Order: sequence, then C-alpha cells, then structure tokens
Amino acid sequence: HEEFTKVKNISTIELGRYEIETWYFSPFPAEYNDCLKLYFCEFCLNFMKRKEQLQRHMRKCDLKHPPGDEIYRSGTLSMFEVDGKKNKVYGQNLCYLAKLFLDHKTLYYDVDLFLFYVLCECDDRGCHMVGYFSKEKHSEESYNLACILTLPPYQRKGYGKFLIAFSYELSKKEGKVGTPERPLSDLGLLSYRGYWTRVLLDILKKHKGNISIKELSDMTAIKAEDILTTLQTLELIQYRKGQHVICADPKVLDRHLKQAGRGGLEVDVSKLIWTPYK
Ligand code: COA
Ligand code: NA
Repeated sequence: HEEFTKVKNISTIELGRYEIETWYFSPFPAEYNDCLKLYFCEFCLNFMKRKEQLQRHMRKCDLKHPPGDEIYRSGTLSMFEVDGKKNKVYGQNLCYLAKLFLDHKTLYYDVDLFLFYVLCECDDRGCHMVGYFSKEKHSEESYNLACILTLPPYQRKGYGKFLIAFSYELSKKEGKVGTPERPLSDLGLLSYRGYWTRVLLDILKKHKGNISIKELSDMTAIKAEDILTTLQTLELIQYRKGQHVICADPKVLDRHLKQAGRGGLEVDVSKLIWTPYK
C-alpha cells in the first residue's frame, strides 16, 4: 500500500520565470494530491494550486530573497543562510520542492535541526533561487552537507560544484573535516568526484616533495576516506611497506585534470562573512 501511494503526483511546477518538469514523488499534504501542477512563490516558497492564487500572493508577499542572513555576495551571486528553526515553513517548503528532484532521500520534517544555504542569482527584481544545500547544525558523523540541489534550469553550469566548494569552505571556517551524507545520487557522486579530483590534483601539481593524506585533508577539509577513494579511483595510490604512497607523475595528473571537467564557479572566500553555528 505504501508503494502504491508513492506514484509521482505533481508533474510540473512554476517557480519564478520557469516552468519545471519534476523528477520524483514528493509527499505534499493530502489536499494537493489532485494537482498535476503547483505554483510556487519563488521567494517564500509557498505553493498554490492555481495561477490566480499565486498572482494574488505575489502582490502581498514582501520577500525578495530567502528569509535569512546573506553570508556571501560576489557579483550577482548571493548565498543566504536560513535557520530551519527560525523559518520552519520556508524550510518545509524547500524540502517539499527539493524532494521533487531527489530520489532516495527521506524528507526531513525536523527542519529545526538544519541550516539551509540557498544560492541566488540577483537582479533588480530580487534574488532568484538557483539551488541550495542543507546541513545539520550538529553532525555526529562529520557530515557537512545533507541534501544538495541545483534547480533543473540552472544545472550543468557549475553551480553544483560551487555549492560543494561552499560546503567545504564552511568546514574550513569551523576547523573541521566534512563529508556529504550518504547515499549520494548518481549526479551527486559525479559532481563530488569531479570536485574532489580537481581540488586534490591542483594541490598535487603545485606541491613539491612528499605529502600525506592527512596533510591534504587539513588543507581541503575533505575527509581522509574521500581523499583515499578519489586517489585510488584515479590509480594514484600505491601501497608500499604498509603505507599508502601518492604517486604524482605530472603527465598523469594533467591527463586526469582534463577528464575532470570544468572547474565550476569559484567561491571567493574573501566574500564569505560567516561564523559557525553554536
Ligand atoms: N550528465 C552527466 N554528468 C553530469 C550531469 C549530467 N546530467 N550533471 C552533472 N554532471 C557531472 C559533470 O561531471 C559536471 O561537471 P562538468 O559539467 O564540468 O562536466 C559535474 O557533475 C557538476 O556539474 P555542475 O554544473 O557543477 O553541477 P549541477 O549544478 O548540475 O548540480 C547536482 C549537480 C547533483 C546538484 C544536480 O544534478 C542536482 O540537483 N541533481 C538532483 C538532486 C541530486 O541528485 N542531488 C544529490 C543528492 S545527494
Ligand atoms: Na554538484
């Protein structure tokens, strides 16, 4: 019976200037079960059944950006930190929206425990959400990211890698290593593999002399296990006399770097104004 109710219901959403086809089921409240299309306010993320309701809402809604602190601004890109406890409805709306594009994540109703980092492209009409990631306020497992999403109209432009890079910049500020919550989707894993590969190989290329996985981890905030699997996948690790040894032939590094795809949008750390959550 449970499976029977999990058929994809909402097939299209309207969000800002986009109409977006959905990918998966999302457990919207029962009263929305009869809808094929939902209309989202792109700022507060309230959703409605009819276009006229959205139009009426847009005349009243005061928000022009996500409800939270702007912690990063560079050019037209801004990042907002939204506390799920202070903005419960927004957090829940964001989870409903995100689940439409996430397969095997359970939906967290417990948004209190999370911070949401919402990436926006800003213009004179407001700050338009491009994507986000969520992060537990306190993670026992050193997770620095729970869910990540780039909205489909913005995918494959480097925003995903920007969000990943941002999550590691926050970890660096906390003085901790981090890792994404598992399982990762296929697209999530591809994005992480690309990010890890590029970051690690850039360091190995510049570095002279020996370097350990621990040192790489300290420099990047990437968890040692993720460094090891990345370098193993690239066949850059040998096991000698009971120790892992990184082999960094410049030609091999260049070949891998070419295959790792584009670097994505850079996070300019000097534009990040943030103190860790206490
Ligand atoms: N086909 C093949 N490779 C893809 C891909 C696709 N459709 N989308 C992303 N990739 C790979 C590429 O290697 C890409 O790098 P490249 O463009 O330099 O080759 C890399 O992932 C990251 O691309 P980027 O543009 O930075 O990411 P994105 O903005 O498209 O966002 C996700 C990536 C994972 C956030 C996005 O696909 C998404 O939101 N998916 C749905 C939600 C999800 O699965 N989240 C992860 C759950 S843990
Ligand atoms: Na990504």
